[in-house]
Amino acid sequence: MIEISCLNDITWHEALEAGGSHSEVWSLETRNFTARNQNVLDLDFVRSRFPALSTDWALFDNAGGSVPLASVIDGVASYMGRLGVQLGASYDLSVEAGERVQAGHRSMEELMVAESGEVILGPSTTVLLAHLARALRPSWREGDEVIVTDLDHEANIGPWRALGASGIVLKEWKLRRESASLELEDLKALLTERTRLVAVTHCSNIVGRIHDVSAMAEAAHGVGARVCVDGVAFAPHRRIDVRALGVDFYVFSTYKTYGPHQAVLWGRRELLAEARSQNHFFVGEDQLPAKMEPGGPNHELAASLPAIPEYLESLATHHGAHDWAGGARSGTEPNPLDRAFELIATHERALAARVLEFLSQRQGVRVIGPESSDAAIRVPTISFVAEGRHASEIPTALDGEKVAIRWGDFYAKRAVQSLGLQSAGGVIRISMVHYNTLDEVDRLIRALDRCL
Ligand SMILES: Cc1ncc(COP(=O)(O)O)c(C=O)c1O
Repeated sequence: MIEISCLNDITWHEALEAGGSHSEVWSLETRNFTARNQNVLDLDFVRSRFPALSTDWALFDNAGGSVPLASVIDGVASYMGRLGVQLGASYDLSVEAGERVQAGHRSMEELMVAESGEVILGPSTTVLLAHLARALRPSWREGDEVIVTDLDHEANIGPWRALGASGIVLKEWKLRRESASLELEDLKALLTERTRLVAVTHCSNIVGRIHDVSAMAEAAHGVGARVCVDGVAFAPHRRIDVRALGVDFYVFSTYKTYGPHQAVLWGRRELLAEARSQNHFFVGEDQLPAKMEPGGPNHELAASLPAIPEYLESLATHHGAHDWAGGARSGTEPNPLDRAFELIATHERALAARVLEFLSQRQGVRVIGPESSDAAIRVPTISFVAEGRHASEIPTALDGEKVAIRWGDFYAKRAVQSLGLQSAGGVIRISMVHYNTLDEVDRLIRALDRCL
């Protein structure tokens, strides 16, 4: 533990050189900080947590993958550097390693407001959903129905469609072409008493619109069906409270949420209990999460996960929320995670508004999805097409200016087909997160101005 009473007197780098870990330095700094304006995100504070942001690139490809927190990198390094032993033995290093991996599970339970044992870790959302589909199939009968969309990333379509080979009837809930959205009334028309599951995106990784998954879950529950939500494009931007959402399964990828290349699946305990084990025959059906983690999670990545909620809590504390780690809570203060995402949403809205305003004024440019920057309606993942131009032309022109955006279908191939955009190379996507700055957006706009 470093002895630094006031970080105002020394720089971050000096503190780190004095032997402090990133998290020690930051928690000390947080206590010493008086936010000038508690509702404006302190971007120096935010960006200092992400070492990869010291690049001269402006990164607008964050829905592909956000850069990781320094404390996540520290978490991986400290686990591998000190505890690279196997779990489950009696010696103390092995016990400690097991506790670090368990802490990874617990931190994701905290983040999602889940109960103990309900969070499953895996290498990717794609793999976790493939396991889930196989695990649920044995409790369904031939002729039972599953509803998939044409808006989702293929990770939440393919594994369910694959069940068609074993007699499950697949129904497609189609997006509305004019708004690129999924409408509740279209879902209702597909639901029957044979529907077992609805697989739907909380927020498309192309369109950025936030869907009302609570209303969708209510409709599905009305016929006894379950809802599996892909929250990958939502999780970096807004608070997830799985119980408040009222859904049944929820999945997201931590490498797009400031963490390591890993993913998290939450399921209601009673539903995971019914699901068939994907692990060895001797791993009992009551052993959660182990029965859904064949081969176990990646230890060092799991051990780094607590850094994500810790960062979000530090963000809230830095901007004036009650320090819940530092003292008793009265129960009336807002949850620090709610506060952190409130700050994030406010800043993201400003970023989105500036981009959308620019795009709306360009001749021949069409935004795919909501033109509103309202944080209740969308996240700052903004896709557009430019009349008469192949989608690849714009991002490649920006590469030379060190402004990173991207084009394509982003594995939401069916969405791009349904929107009739495949021959134009898909969409051009600008995907921002809270560590992006308005200055970066201005740089992006100047670059787009030259080539659009
Ligand atoms: C919305 C959405 N769902 C699912 C995935 C798949 O995630 P993973 O790479 O963890 O399999 C992605 C990845 O881009 C995504 O954007």
